[in-house]
Amino acid sequence: MSTLITGIAELTTHDPEGPGGPGPFALVLDGARVAWTGLAADALPADERVDVGGRAVLPGWVDSHTHLVFAGDRGPEFAARMAGEPYAASGIRTTVDATRAATDDALAAGLRRHADEAARQGTTCLETKTGYGLTVADETRAARIAAAVVDEVTFLGAHVVPAGADPDAYLDEVCGPMLDAVAAHVGWVDVFCEDGAFDETSSARVLRAGAARGLGLRVHGNQLGPGPGVRLAVAHGAASVDHCTHLTVDDVDALAGSDTVATLLPACDLSTRQPPAPARRLADAGATLALASNANPGSSYTTSMPLCVALAVLQGGLSVDEAVRAATLGGARALRRTDVGTLAVGARADVQVLDAPSAAYLAYRPGVPLTWAVWSAGRPTLD
Ligand code: NIG
Repeated sequence: MSTLITGIAELTTHDPEGPGGPGPFALVLDGARVAWTGLAADALPADERVDVGGRAVLPGWVDSHTHLVFAGDRGPEFAARMAGEPYAASGIRTTVDATRAATDDALAAGLRRHADEAARQGTTCLETKTGYGLTVADETRAARIAAAVVDEVTFLGAHVVPAGADPDAYLDEVCGPMLDAVAAHVGWVDVFCEDGAFDETSSARVLRAGAARGLGLRVHGNQLGPGPGVRLAVAHGAASVDHCTHLTVDDVDALAGSDTVATLLPACDLSTRQPPAPARRLADAGATLALASNANPGSSYTTSMPLCVALAVLQGGLSVDEAVRAATLGGARALRRTDVGTLAVGARADVQVLDAPSAAYLAYRPGVPLTWAVWSAGRPTLD
């Protein structure tokens, strides 16, 4: 089954060989792949034709950082924060208690509900993490549940040391039996390298243990203050270091000189009343940027990638092109994927249409639902 999408006022492909100049443009999806892009006047016939009437078309969002296998509610914690309490990693333990008490079906249903919510806003490739189980059995079931729903699964047993556990014994467990148990379900290992979570030495041990099992590496770093997270991620060749809110000049230089993607989480900075991550400085230095939602019940309870793009432009100082690239191609790079985040010929047919003539409207009309149509691997997903 092939689909010709025509009447495109602005087409973002991230393909240097893609069509340029004034449109209108068109693209053809053949099954699950992009088959052709070009000027609408040159388009070949297809099995079906969809005229998007002068709207903007771009790749679906690649949300490379979420924590969506959870139960429970942190509304009271949010209210206390808005009344002046600081965000603290210790809130994670509230979600751990609720998640451990939940049934498999409840966790799976919650994950599907949030994944569907993201999809309705244009997300077509989704990563999620474990990290609210923190026992061998609870982390393994979180990984199994996640693997049935999302594109990429990350093991985050090293999220915090669970209440009552001995830190050294817990680290031994994470790096040994827990990793062994989850490895079949996950592609990535992550560690929260921050005061109140894991220090540099412990974090390095987690990364080495993950690498020894063939997993890709990710790091939560420099979220709540300056720290070793970025340095550690770059030194270990991690695919991404996420948050990057408090960076030194050396951190920016290290990211710019590496293949480690700086994944910015602007909705989290907003919700935790942190300063916006230095997106402009990173972009000017030449670092590769990703934008992600960090959807989780504590620090960033939103699945909205359009919000993240708007914040990165309006608060972070990125251009619309830079922000859209970071939320699509950048996310793909953070996941070391070449098949998503682009509409180059051969890419997965993950396409979104905005109810606007240009992607600039994502920042020009922040908070307005602009997702007009979505194809995921060639299948339309909105009614
Ligand atoms: O990325 N920083 C660590 N983990 C999550 C927060 C999780 C929570 O507060 O429940 C984050 O912000």
